[in-house]
Amino acid sequence: MRVGILGSGLMGAKLGTIFARAGHEVVLSYSHSPKKLEKLARAAGKNARAGTPRDAARQADALLLAVHWSRIDDVLQLAGDLSGKVIVTCSLPMNADDSDLAVGHTWSGAEELARRAPRTHIVGAFNTVPSEVLFDVYKARTRKILPGLLYYGDNLGAKRIAKKLIRDVGFDPIDAGPLRIARYAEPFALLVAQLAYEGKGGPELAYRFERFKSRR
Ligand SMILES: NC(=O)c1ccc[n+]([C@@H]2O[C@H](COP(=O)([O-])OP(=O)(O)OC[C@H]3O[C@@H](n4cnc5c(N)ncnc54)[C@H](OP(=O)(O)O)[C@@H]3O)[C@@H](O)[C@H]2O)c1
Repeated sequence: MRVGILGSGLMGAKLGTIFARAGHEVVLSYSHSPKKLEKLARAAGKNARAGTPRDAARQADALLLAVHWSRIDDVLQLAGDLSGKVIVTCSLPMNADDSDLAVGHTWSGAEELARRAPRTHIVGAFNTVPSEVLFDVYKARTRKILPGLLYYGDNLGAKRIAKKLIRDVGFDPIDAGPLRIARYAEPFALLVAQLAYEGKGGPELAYRFERFKSRR
């Protein structure tokens, strides 16, 4: 797959690197420093290159949106016409100082993104784990029992693409339903962040849900 990375910070740089190592063609974009993008692309290997958001979007089968909420409009505008594109978003709708969700309960960041980027297919994914765990999950991807990862969206084709990317990183994809489930998943992402950054044991944290079969 061709994957464009919009936002090459903690999440975008790591996921972009993993996607490239898993065999996808990756364009890393959107940083204050083009040099940083070049360096990241070199380190990620032959499948990765640096570019502008427009380059990243041009032939992408999927875009990973990984910017602070305050940069969404800017990066979407720089990416150009995104009609028909699949956008996998890990961006959480945080306020300016990252202390709380700016949108919630009856609306969500993912739904707001769908409003701001019409004619695209949004899937929420990767937002419920800290960036610190991503390389560990990738390294452990051949284990029998994998950590879960929630994803949600309204377009089945776009969800299939997201599911493949989630598998390639080393997670067991959990289809949580339509895009409006972001209303529950985004606060859950903050719970995971709370456990990762304020709990004991460090931020290399992932999760699994277990379903017990009823004996009735
Ligand atoms: N970090 C996590 O563990 C985590 C987990 C779950 C969800 N999320 C969500 O994922 C999204 C990305 O988080 P992150 O931690 O990866 O953020 P980040 O490290 O701050 O990365 C954001 C990227 O956007 C770039 N950027 C910001 N302003 C820019 C501008 N004016 N011009 C050009 N580039 C600009 C940054 O450039 P530079 O390269 O110059 O810094 C950086 O590459 C956020 O919405 C966050 O809430 C994060």
